[in-house]
Amino acid sequence: MPLDVEKFESEALVAIAEAKDRAALEEVENRLLGRKQGEFTLLMRGLSELAAPEKKSAGARLNELKGKLVEAVNQKRAALESAAWEQISETEKVDLTAPALPPRKSGHFHPSTLVQRDLENLFTSMGFAVLDGPEVESDYYNFSALNIPETHPARELQDTFYIKGHNNWVMRTHTSPMQVRAMQKYGAPLRVVVPGKCYRNEATDVRHEHTFYQFEGLVVDEGINFSHLKGVLEIVAKHLYGEKTEVRLRPKYYPFVEPGVNGEVTCFTCAGKGCRLCKNSGWLEVFGAGMVHPNVLIEGNIDPQKYTGFAFGFGLTRLVMLKYGIDDVRLLESGNMKFLEQF
Ligand code: PHE
Repeated sequence: MPLDVEKFESEALVAIAEAKDRAALEEVENRLLGRKQGEFTLLMRGLSELAAPEKKSAGARLNELKGKLVEAVNQKRAALESAAWEQISETEKVDLTAPALPPRKSGHFHPSTLVQRDLENLFTSMGFAVLDGPEVESDYYNFSALNIPETHPARELQDTFYIKGHNNWVMRTHTSPMQVRAMQKYGAPLRVVVPGKCYRNEATDVRHEHTFYQFEGLVVDEGINFSHLKGVLEIVAKHLYGEKTEVRLRPKYYPFVEPGVNGEVTCFTCAGKGCRLCKNSGWLEVFGAGMVHPNVLIEGNIDPQKYTGFAFGFGLTRLVMLKYGIDDVRLLESGNMKFLEQF
């Protein structure tokens, strides 16, 4: 028996050490230490044949041996695992010969968004808040609250889309409805800009589109006068088109301002000399503006005796077309990737 144990031990340790992989090791482990038919178990069974004093010392020896074998199997398993991992790292984990993935295309902002953000930054730097408004707007805010009563012919200039079954709701024709909404919500004093989508029932062509963007501004405070309006508009014009840009204001009728103006800036391609872009006039029309009509202040619950204000509305889409030299407004809403990828 003692001899058998020695032999068993050395053979067992060699078998463990020589296991090539985890499957082989498992096999050896089962063969040696398997609960029912393992060789070690059989050895243990042999104990019963021994006389009492021998049995005791042999039992102790076998217990010690079992610990040794279990330990050897565990160590071998750990060694095989780390070897397997290292092997993966060289062959599969990083395959330096694999062809590179194509670079991912990253998206970018729409040109209208670029100009909108540029103006938002300019105006927030002057203390204006940026507001959003509903694109489906009530007849009241889009027209009536802006001093355009139901029967007024000015409505015809801004024909739009009416919501089926809801005749008092329209796709807003301008961002101006937010003037009265802002006044009602925040009261005076007020300094806000409102960029956003607008809609009109247009027979579309290179200059007309049913969907376009405006950029509205509104200031209400005590003592606001026309020079404040002109000052702000000049800042915007110079910011957009350079220091030498001038602003020209000419009277124009908008029901919600009094006096109202049509605003032009010096043509930036010909510096005012006259070219194709400005149709030889030297000026580009880019906004409407004026002093807020007292009726509009009243709709906004603001006392026209105490407060005055000015408002302006830039044709944001027009600014975008001028900035990037886009000659067909319909491209902007077309979703045409060939067009959009240029920006
Ligand atoms: N809402 C006007 C338009 O769409 C522009 C405008 C805004 C004019 C504010 C005056 C004051 O044509």
